[in-house]
This record gives sequence, structure tokens and C-alpha cells, in this order.
Amino acid sequence: MTTIALTGALGRMGTLIIQEAAKVKDMQLVAGLDAVGAGKELPGGVIVKDASELEAVLIESRPDVLIDFTIAKAAVNNVCTAANLGVDLVIGTTGFSSEQNDLMKKAIEGHVAAVISPNFSLGVNVFWKLVADAAASLKDYDIEVIEAHHNQKKDAPSGTALATVEAIKKALGEKEIVYGRQGLMPRGKEIGVHAVRGGDIVGDHTVLLAGSGERLEIKHQAHSRSAFASGAVRAAQWVVGKEPGIYSMADVLKSR
Ligand SMILES: NC(=O)c1ccc[n+]([C@@H]2O[C@H](COP(=O)([O-])OP(=O)(O)OC[C@H]3O[C@@H](n4cnc5c(N)ncnc54)[C@H](O)[C@@H]3O)[C@@H](O)[C@H]2O)c1
Repeated sequence: MTTIALTGALGRMGTLIIQEAAKVKDMQLVAGLDAVGAGKELPGGVIVKDASELEAVLIESRPDVLIDFTIAKAAVNNVCTAANLGVDLVIGTTGFSSEQNDLMKKAIEGHVAAVISPNFSLGVNVFWKLVADAAASLKDYDIEVIEAHHNQKKDAPSGTALATVEAIKKALGEKEIVYGRQGLMPRGKEIGVHAVRGGDIVGDHTVLLAGSGERLEIKHQAHSRSAFASGAVRAAQWVVGKEPGIYSMADVLKSR
């Protein structure tokens, strides 16, 4: 039995993670926390606790793993609290600064196992491999990364777009990044990154590789957040009992 606590329990992702976890025979939600809505009852009977009570809730409910889908500032605190108590982690929140990433790394390494991914869908994890392969094969082509999300998304560009840029850099070496363009902006050898926001778009990512007389586009479109939620639940099952350290979704999928 894998027992989970969830921060961001009443959010878009939290709600779906509860649904996905309920489908898994050997998984039980033992705690749910959110910054708003304390006292509400979650499916399965768990009562939402206020985010400020995280430490006490983890001590009392002793989950195997904390799944965090909140906002960057909150997630850093949640991760440090859980790691300090020896609770393994699945971190889906995006939009961390490099200082916040360093803080989490310090709290996790040597203490607990954590899967961190800006995108838990199976398709995006294949998309990253395809993009790296295409970039390595089309070295001189111009590359643009275009992402689109719903109008409530807080961070831009998306964590998935940034991870896509990292996959391209791994294949090609260090590159200049240009975020959007305005005014006189002749194209150099940069990677262009563009964020579109509107309506209820769940998450689209396109990598365009353009050369002379042709272009290749590699595209992933999420139709439903359940693609992310089921991946996060799978990561939660996988991470418990692993050696302390930071793992990616690729590590989870490798050992399917
Ligand atoms: N990794 C992935 O696959 C993936 C997929 C989708 C979204 N995301 C990311 O997950 C995060 C959440 O996305 P969402 O669409 O569910 O957002 P959302 O705004 O619907 O939900 C976030 C929830 O976190 C709560 N919250 C804020 N501070 C908190 C705290 N200190 N403790 C507990 N809860 C707190 C909010 O009240 C809200 O209910 C974002 O960073 C988003 O970019 C990641």
C-alpha cells in the first residue's frame, strides 16, 4: 500500500490526482492540503487541511509520499518540510527560479527520493526524445519552441517548454534563447521561445525546425489533465523506497 498526501488538493491537478489515485488498488490518500478551502471533504472522506498545517499533518498521517501541484513559492516550502520529515516526493509544480531549484535540491539530496517533472504525460516524455533526435540531425536548422496554455496559467514560458529547450541544448550545446520578438530583431542562431495564453487550452507544445525549402514540426497536445495526473500517480508508486536523490519521469518510465 502506498499512502499519499497531496498539496494543492483542491486545484485543477489536485482534483484529478485524487480521481486517478482512487483507481489504483494499492494506493490511499491520507491527507490533502490547500491554501483555500480547509474543512472541505475530499472524495474518499479526507478533510482538507490548511496549507500552514503541513508539518503537523505529515507527522500525524505519515504518508509514504507527498505529491505537490501548487505554485513555486509554496512548493519550495512544502518540499523542504516533507524532505525534513523523510517523506518521498513527486513534484509537478512549475515556474521555479534557479535559487528555488537549488533550495529544493539541497533539501532532497541525501534525505529522500523525489521525482520532479514539469510534465508527467507519457507523450511529452517521448516528444522530448524525438525533439533531441531531430535537433541533432538538423543541426543548422532554425529552431522555435511554441507553447500554448489556458488563461489561468501563472508561469511563462511553461516548464515543459523550458525542459524542451534543455533537451535541444543537450543535443546541440549551449545556445542563446530569445523569448518572443518585438521591433528590429534579426534572427541569429538562437532558439526562439513563444508562449500563447488563452481560454481553456490544456497544453500544446510545438518545436519547429526550419531549413531551406522545408520545415519539420513536432507537436504534442494534451487533451486532458488526466494525462498528467495518471503519470504523477505512477511516479508516486515508483518513488517510494528509491535511493535518496532527484529522479525524472524518464527514470520512472524506463523501469516500467
Ligand atoms: N508537471 C505536470 O505534468 C503539470 C501539469 C499541469 C500543471 N502543472 C503545474 O502544477 C501547478 C498547479 O497547476 P493547477 O493547474 O492545478 O493550478 P491550480 O491553480 O488549479 O491549483 C493550485 C492549487 O494549489 C493551492 N495552493 C497554493 N498554495 C498552496 C500551499 N502553500 N499549500 C497547498 N496548496 C496550495 C491553490 O489554492 C490551488 O488550489 C502549476 O505550477 C502548473 O504549472 C504541472
